[in-house]
Amino acid sequence: MTLDSNQLRIADNQYVWHPFTAMSAYRDEQAPIIVEAEGFYLTDTEDRRYLDGHSSLWCNIHGHRVEAIDRAIRVQLDRVAHSTLLGLANVPSIELAAELVSRTPEGLSKVFFSDCGAAGVEVALKLAYQYFQQRPNKPQVRDKFVYFDGAYHGDTIGTMSLGSIDRFKNLFSPLLFPAIWSSVPIATPTQPQQERQQLEHWSIELERLLSTHAGEIAGVVIEPLVQAAAGIRVQAEGFLSKVRELTYKYDTLLIADEIAVGFGRTGTLFACEQESVSPDLLILSKGLTGGYLPLAATLVTDELYDAFLGDPWAGKTFYHGHTYTGNPLACAAALASLRLIDEHKVLPNAFRLERILQEQLAPLEELPQVKEVRVKGTMVGIELANGEEPFVPSQRVGHRVTLACRRRGVILRNIADIIVLMPAPAMPAELVIEICQAVRESIAEVIAEGV
Ligand SMILES: Cc1ncc(COP(=O)(O)O)c(C=O)c1O
Repeated sequence: MTLDSNQLRIADNQYVWHPFTAMSAYRDEQAPIIVEAEGFYLTDTEDRRYLDGHSSLWCNIHGHRVEAIDRAIRVQLDRVAHSTLLGLANVPSIELAAELVSRTPEGLSKVFFSDCGAAGVEVALKLAYQYFQQRPNKPQVRDKFVYFDGAYHGDTIGTMSLGSIDRFKNLFSPLLFPAIWSSVPIATPTQPQQERQQLEHWSIELERLLSTHAGEIAGVVIEPLVQAAAGIRVQAEGFLSKVRELTYKYDTLLIADEIAVGFGRTGTLFACEQESVSPDLLILSKGLTGGYLPLAATLVTDELYDAFLGDPWAGKTFYHGHTYTGNPLACAAALASLRLIDEHKVLPNAFRLERILQEQLAPLEELPQVKEVRVKGTMVGIELANGEEPFVPSQRVGHRVTLACRRRGVILRNIADIIVLMPAPAMPAELVIEICQAVRESIAEVIAEGV
């Protein structure tokens, strides 16, 4: 059965429920139906080409249909597409685990695979909880986690419990486990003194929480440097290393969620590197496979891993696993992507793109309807507002800007009235400049329509 463009649209509206999408409006919006891609462009059923300005939801690293990754998947496909890691091994997952251990911050030595970001975080939470009950020197039941204002770690019940974005979470509150909220000092590069004061203030608050609940907290869960789903909120410099210092001092685990920030998005392979931090647990996903296939990895230290050893009947095993854990095709894609990051010098490119994004988007800060432009690496949040007040939600200002971008051939997504740009770390500068131009024009268009 081959459906034409119109039939596909009808079938999409009839059968598919899109995530994080207001379906009543979506049905009238004629969203592109993607059929193929080339480099950083996506093509739809109407033969329209779009620049992928959000890295296909923050995961694409090198562009689409990249020869080396395509080949790696095909080669693996000729061997085996899937075989389980439950009590068995497969070649690409072993090679990838070794590669990840060699590239991630020191001390992380074991890799537990799963298949999406939220699952990787759930693994980390369960590991931390079980670890404290089994660690040899001081076994304890620790059932508390600290999370930060603006945090987002996924949409499962456990990860939502550590989320801080009300409209995603509030409805489900009765289902969630209680956790301890703390705030984050925000980077204010034009007011360094204010940034330092905030850093001090929130570090003291965090220390107060950790000392009040000493012996009860299994872990502090942080998105290092940037909270992506909060609208690219960049943390004050030094906060991550402070959190590391305090988690050591109060003997709790530092759980770093690098699902969004990992693999070059902030300009270094891992965000933790920028503050020389080694977390106790590190979660990777999204860019892990270059944005090709679903895969997540939770890395831990030897100390944590060793607490799960013992006689098989002693009850120390980690009883957790997903059917497609360590899928060979996904691991083969990840290995190829990691090699390309080196070969194509993706990290220096991402670093250069930060400056280009800053320069290209600086004129927006002159507009009264632009509250702030935040850039870190290739992650950008443009916060639109009515002066200091948010726009009325029914105006859907952010959404209208992304539709205007789409008419200009650029795919982006908004988070409420924050326009998020997330070009792939390997994207050439001239394409990033095109995205910025489309965004500037689209914001001007929506303002001219009336907001
Ligand atoms: C920081 C962070 N953690 C976790 C997740 C959840 O990942 P997934 O959508 O693969 O479950 C996301 C997704 O955007 C994320 O940005």
